[in-house]
Amino acid sequence: MDSKRRQLIAGISLASAGVLLNACRTSPSGSGSATNKSDEPAPGEAAPAEVTAAEDLMREHGILRRALLVYQESAVRLRQDASSVPPDALEKAANLFRVFGEDYHERKLEEVYILPVVKKSPGVAAGYVDILFEQHTRGREITDYLLSITKADRIPSNSVETLAKTLESFVRMYEHHAAIEDTVIFPAWKSAVGQGELDELGEKFEEIEHEQFGDDGFEAALKRMEEIETSLGLSNLDMFTAPKPPK
Ligand SMILES: [Fe+2]
Ligand SMILES: [Fe+2]
Repeated sequence: MDSKRRQLIAGISLASAGVLLNACRTSPSGSGSATNKSDEPAPGEAAPAEVTAAEDLMREHGILRRALLVYQESAVRLRQDASSVPPDALEKAANLFRVFGEDYHERKLEEVYILPVVKKSPGVAAGYVDILFEQHTRGREITDYLLSITKADRIPSNSVETLAKTLESFVRMYEHHAAIEDTVIFPAWKSAVGQGELDELGEKFEEIEHEQFGDDGFEAALKRMEEIETSLGLSNLDMFTAPKPPK
């Protein structure tokens, strides 16, 4: 694909989250996808299990962690043979992180409903909030850089090491970030808001997701992620099984 066409597609994707995430919804197979929360079950089909607000946030982290895996593997490959990393695959991963991670998960949910509540709550969790906000900002700066450097048909050779280092630093930051949110921030938030409000927020989050993506954003993002992994030859989980330890 030439760079103009790729830029056009990236531009359209950034302009419309729904287009980006729903671009992958044409395949009827839906392999590995969660059931669409908004659909009525077909006759004889089990009703979809309800997703709680905290579970919603954590499975979104699952999508973002898969993007981090793409970044990590790309950093290794860039150093071995830069031509083995197609810039448009990295660009798609960065676009997904922007639309699903930064503009939706962080900006619409965490920064509005989670972090301000935790900041006012007693305990250690409040102490993390300013750093988490800073890391959201740094992540967006890095995503801007990734989207800009992956516009070209190939990564310039004098940028390969900088790109690999930047990808690794992003992965390192976001792995810690999501781990603290999963283990400290979300539990503190759940305690602070109480069960009644949690149920309401679960519905609110679903509404926001539909507003943002027009349908089930998680399912579309998952499908998009699977396509990116496949394009990079990263879709076989068994390739990541560790070798036997030394005797
Ligand atoms: Fe966050
Ligand atoms: Fe998060």
